[in-house]
Amino acid sequence: MLDVLTVGEEVLRQKTEKIDSFGPELRLLAEAMIETMHEEDGIGLAAPQIGVSKRLFVVHLSGEEPRVFVNPEIIGTSHELSSYEEGCLSVPGVYAEVTRPKEITLQAQTLEGKSYTLEADGMLARVIQHEYDHLKGVLFVDRLDEEKRERILLIYHRKNRKRK
Ligand code: NI
Repeated sequence: MLDVLTVGEEVLRQKTEKIDSFGPELRLLAEAMIETMHEEDGIGLAAPQIGVSKRLFVVHLSGEEPRVFVNPEIIGTSHELSSYEEGCLSVPGVYAEVTRPKEITLQAQTLEGKSYTLEADGMLARVIQHEYDHLKGVLFVDRLDEEKRERILLIYHRKNRKRK
């Protein structure tokens, strides 16, 4: 299992690089990420969270097979928004409602490098947008208004002080 990095690590704030090699190494990386996501009881995990600054994330919603997204690009979003409580393995122990577009259209590649387009709504659209943010160095707490963000980070630092 890989270590999941938490807020404060610089790699979580970096813009990620495009993947252009679709060999067995990429498959092994994706498999390790899926295993780590399962171990941590997460429903999504992005490569920067394990210290790899590449455009890759994995998602596993209950009742589905795990999904791997290579070089994803959100190419469309609905005007309609929805709010839902989010958490993040990189900001452990804190949760907050985040407002995002309800539906998205995404282009991505498979582990073999094949391009595809996906339309998603509901939980899948939510998790994809959360993980997609990670590829841009954005964390869900950045999506909150300033007052709420400060309150959340205060709770986070209180909770995690003892671990450090
Ligand atoms: Ni996250």
